[in-house]
Amino acid sequence: MINGEAGVAFIGSGSAQVETALSNDMLSRVVDTSDEWISSRTGIGQRHVANGDESLAVLAAQAAKGAISTANLTPDDIDLIILATSTPDDLFGTACQVQAAIGATRAVAFDLTAACSGFVFGVVTAAQFIRTGTYQNVLVIGADLLSRWVDWEDRTTCVLFGDGAGAVVMQACDRDRLLGFEMHSDGTLNGCLNLAYTAQSVPLVDGVTAQKGTFTAITMNGREVYRFAVSRVPEVLEKTLFHAGLVASDMDWLILHQANQRILDAVAKRLNLPAERVVSNMAKHGNTSAASIPIALDEWVRMGKIQPGHKIAMSGFGAGLTWGAVLLEWGR
Ligand code: UT7
Repeated sequence: MINGEAGVAFIGSGSAQVETALSNDMLSRVVDTSDEWISSRTGIGQRHVANGDESLAVLAAQAAKGAISTANLTPDDIDLIILATSTPDDLFGTACQVQAAIGATRAVAFDLTAACSGFVFGVVTAAQFIRTGTYQNVLVIGADLLSRWVDWEDRTTCVLFGDGAGAVVMQACDRDRLLGFEMHSDGTLNGCLNLAYTAQSVPLVDGVTAQKGTFTAITMNGREVYRFAVSRVPEVLEKTLFHAGLVASDMDWLILHQANQRILDAVAKRLNLPAERVVSNMAKHGNTSAASIPIALDEWVRMGKIQPGHKIAMSGFGAGLTWGAVLLEWGR
């Protein structure tokens, strides 16, 4: 640590799910699929789906409250809220609604969009404000309701995604527990995974045309994204470990974005990590995009598996395309 800079600690976690679960069997009544195909190809058993009355802000606020309370703080202690999401309630941003809902009156709040890498990018962004001494307590939330933007007639995507929210509180401290990070983007592969805006021209007056449109359902080249994930994720983890002077076996836990069990298995094999150290909860939640890593983290903390002092490697990857990794030590 450079003189005058603060270190970063990870001191609390929370998560929240909407109530309704949609099992693979139920989905096979919606599209031509089966529990056997979904389970064997992805490891997903069910996903949660928000109904028309449920909002991202309420779900994110629930996860945020859990994280603040396990950090033994009050909402007034929070200086900054970063909400990583691609599915806001309001395109102008949803973080301020969360700020109001939890009563974090002192906090500045903004959204960050980096799809399934959003939580990892959010943690790295938060760390910059803490390390420079700008803020003491930062809440990073990953929340997505991808079910809003799924094409329920497209079996190649609708079986994968689910809804949820997870959060962590990061705090300034003397000894830095953020051991390393890397972030990457490759926009040349942008067309592999999209939730794209499409517009029509609206003539206003002679020579002036505006546009009016909407976002269209998620499209994905699954095979291409799979190839990208199994090559880039181990690479970014190895690079981050190397720069931190660590090796994979130093890590107590590997928490990857929960996209596909086969991706988790391939990355663990490449890093030579035993399956017991690889956190997997996609059987219960599916792929919840920016929420998947903080939900998994919170569940493992609440089960008492992740303990203070444990070293955790995280990696998010997805649309953009974007990918990144964070190495941290859990606890105050
Ligand atoms: O969160 C962002 C990051 N996203 C990811 O990391 C996703 C990465 N990609 C994947 O996880 C996998 O590519 C998928 C799970 C999306 C697909 O698995 P796959 O083993 O790559 O399947 P595939 O696309 O090669 O399709 C194999 C077959 C096809 O039939 P044919 O052409 O072999 O006759 C598909 O039509 O499986 C068929 N198929 C299905 N069958 C039953 C595709 N989706 C389904 C389905 N149910 N839901």
